[in-house]
Amino acid sequence: MSTVDLEAKIPNNVGLRDNKRLMMALEKWQPKFLDWWKTVGPSDFNQHDIYLRTAVGVGQGGWAHFDYVKMPDYRWGIFLADGPADRKIHFGDQIGEQAWHDVPGEFRNRLRRLIVTQGDTEPASVEQQRLLGHCCPSLYDLRSLFQVNVEEGRHLWAMVYLLQTHFGADGRDEAEAMLERHSGDQDNPRILQAFNYPVTNWLDFFCFTAFMDRDGKYQLASLAESSFDPLARTTQFMLAEEAYHLQTGENGVGRIVKRTGELMAQGKDPRKEGAIPLDIIQRYVNFWFTGSMDLFGGEDSTNAAESFANGLKGRYRESDGIYKDPKALNANYTLEVPTGEGKLEKQDIPLRRAMNAVLLDAYIADCKRIVERWNRDLEKLGVSTRIALPDRKFHRYQGVYAGFKFNPAGEMIDEATWTHNHTKWLPTQADRDYVNSCMVKVTTPGKFANYIAPPQQGVNDKPVEFEYVKFH
Ligand SMILES: [Fe+2]
Ligand SMILES: [Fe+2]
Repeated sequence: MSTVDLEAKIPNNVGLRDNKRLMMALEKWQPKFLDWWKTVGPSDFNQHDIYLRTAVGVGQGGWAHFDYVKMPDYRWGIFLADGPADRKIHFGDQIGEQAWHDVPGEFRNRLRRLIVTQGDTEPASVEQQRLLGHCCPSLYDLRSLFQVNVEEGRHLWAMVYLLQTHFGADGRDEAEAMLERHSGDQDNPRILQAFNYPVTNWLDFFCFTAFMDRDGKYQLASLAESSFDPLARTTQFMLAEEAYHLQTGENGVGRIVKRTGELMAQGKDPRKEGAIPLDIIQRYVNFWFTGSMDLFGGEDSTNAAESFANGLKGRYRESDGIYKDPKALNANYTLEVPTGEGKLEKQDIPLRRAMNAVLLDAYIADCKRIVERWNRDLEKLGVSTRIALPDRKFHRYQGVYAGFKFNPAGEMIDEATWTHNHTKWLPTQADRDYVNSCMVKVTTPGKFANYIAPPQQGVNDKPVEFEYVKFH
């Protein structure tokens, strides 16, 4: 078991006290992080007391502490999940060998790129969501937003720790650059395009946490299998926090769907009640789900094959032994590929090259599950409309389907059909304007904006009407 040092300037279980060089580097970075938080983090809420969860260790069941805290005083710490000291590599070409505690020279660049790309998304999402607090549907939701934000901040710390510990001067430069790129910045944007769109309303926020954070879960899960042990253990612990973000999204969209369903069941027009019609919700789901699929990278990818062969990124739950062949050598993956003539053709590609597609399959199955959950509420209310997940080929900008047009059912269509129909499938400016018009700020404990149902339960056994944010 690692020792947790909560008294240190930077709480940690990585023995910072005994590593003066690293401690100095991180303590030098800390004020820059705080500066970043205050300038581009949640706007105007830094002086209020928020009922937040803080990671205080990695033990099963008891890793978090809840209390009121002003966000700039949040104790962003560095925690790695505990693991066996003699862990063995469990997939890829070097299976059976010792896991690495230092970065092997030949994989240095690839590992650095993986860590920087993951790390960059963490502060990016905080920047994207910075104005949302001003139109929160309830105190409960306001707290959720800030919980997600502070934990994304901690995830940045987790990645910066790896960079500063294992990548020397390059790592320190990368750590600085994490605070210099900004979401939507013309000159110095965030690395992945999807992290440069502003998230301006709560339907966007909940779709973001349902779909984009869920992509994050799958990326982290594949890194949690890594042969580079510090990366595996860092990401394992991040997943513990991430679960709440996904839940926030899944429940958030679900509560909006439910509220609309309730109004429809009462024979009311959602638009007259300041609620969000199901067809608009559907278009938001289409937009965010397809955008998140693009984050998985190409379905047929030699890069993915190398990351797997080298033991850098595994499959989802690889260490649970759910795959027959941990080397993934003698198998193919069947991919539907568009041909020039407007048709789809089945192609067999070596399984290793399909690792992004394999991860995407696990992700899509998970998304199907959450949509089914939302639909169960509609069914219970006696509403016949359903939310549907669009096909994976629809509205893609990355991978084999990019550059082709498909409808949400996954049928290839021509340009004219797309032009004619895309406003039925993706949010229009009118949709966005309407959703924005529903964003009323509600801060009375236990009260909710009319477009969203209250949650089933409060946080940490507190009631739903608990004062989750105290304003000063
Ligand atoms: Fe995160
Ligand atoms: Fe997250």
